[in-house]
Amino acid sequence: MSASTDRVVLAYSGGLDTSVAIGWIAERTRREVVAVCVDVGQGGEDLGVVRQRALDCGAVEAYVADAREEFVNDYCVPALKANALYEGRYPLVSALSRPLIARHLVRAAREFGAGTVAHGCTGKGNDQVRFEVSITSMAPDMDCLSPVRDLALTRDVAIGYAEEHSLPIETTRHNPFSIDQNVWGRAIETGFLEDLWNAPTKDVYVYTDDPTYPPLPDEVVITFERGVPVALDGRPVTPLEAVQELNRRAGAQGVGRIDMVEDRLVGIKSREIYEAPGAVALIEAHQALEAVTLERQQRRYKRQMEQAWSDLVYEAQWYSPLKRSMDAFIEDTQRHVCGDIRMVLHGGRATVTGRRTDTGLYDFGLATYDTGDTFDQSSARGFIEIYGLQSRLAAARDLRSGDVEAF
Ligand code: ARG
Repeated sequence: MSASTDRVVLAYSGGLDTSVAIGWIAERTRREVVAVCVDVGQGGEDLGVVRQRALDCGAVEAYVADAREEFVNDYCVPALKANALYEGRYPLVSALSRPLIARHLVRAAREFGAGTVAHGCTGKGNDQVRFEVSITSMAPDMDCLSPVRDLALTRDVAIGYAEEHSLPIETTRHNPFSIDQNVWGRAIETGFLEDLWNAPTKDVYVYTDDPTYPPLPDEVVITFERGVPVALDGRPVTPLEAVQELNRRAGAQGVGRIDMVEDRLVGIKSREIYEAPGAVALIEAHQALEAVTLERQQRRYKRQMEQAWSDLVYEAQWYSPLKRSMDAFIEDTQRHVCGDIRMVLHGGRATVTGRRTDTGLYDFGLATYDTGDTFDQSSARGFIEIYGLQSRLAAARDLRSGDVEAF
């Protein structure tokens, strides 16, 4: 069959909503639907099973991709180099996966001859913006469609449709939360969490165990090469393996639980629970290595850049020109971020207890208060004289004019 551009490529999760969306879109737009499922480490079902379900639900083609390695190398590692935490806390779990999924959607759209890309997001969240802005940033000619938002595909309608058409998908299982998860972490929202006073219950958490009953402390040494984790306890690992192993080990100690109210791009404040044990431990370790290896002004400037980078990524600008420029800056700062960080994982915290690097700016001779001191303290006197000069001039003037009272 020749490729026709009136097909629709749908971001398919294998769940109820996107399974129903296949037939729903086909009926309402009179177009063929191609289902695309991208594995970013969300766990759950075998991709072969998901692919077959898409076909059983009426997709003309179904494409599945194991993108875990690509996700960690090209999306999570840059976030680690940027120590990316939105509003100081959220490691951008979902915000990182959307641009990657969008990339696969656009690729599939070209391959299967589709002019429209569809996704299962509602009209209230950030993810619709991330999908659509990412898609049109790569393919300006592409149309975007959200069946929930644009074609009135509500939850109740979806259940009714699935039963009526006997779709091979469970309609009874009631999950009280809306969950998005990948190898970088897990995001949980809605249900009783919408009351800000309600504490999260135990069933919210999957990646982490209760930090109040931790097992014995776990010590880990993380080796970085230019900002990238390359070994754990001396064993070489890929970045994906590093994240996975730290998810297990830090998760067992309850590291990386986050309960916050955040500002969505669409203006809504929302309560979110996250768990990102590997990401939180890695960022903590990476920051500690940067403290030793980055020059002071560079580090200070980078901290501002990190915030701006996190805002941009949260706000759907992964493929923007500014983000690309920032990436170049951040990459350049990483050339000496090499060495080992030792941390203790315990009681919900990842605590750095040691650093070791050949490319650091820490000088034992300069720092020591014991024998071997190489710092010439006499030069501090002149430094302070000049450093405090303007403050001294200002103080003298303010005393003269009576602006401040004399001590
Ligand atoms: N609020 C987070 C974000 O915008 C997570 C959203 C993930 N979706 C979900 N259904 N929990 O990045």
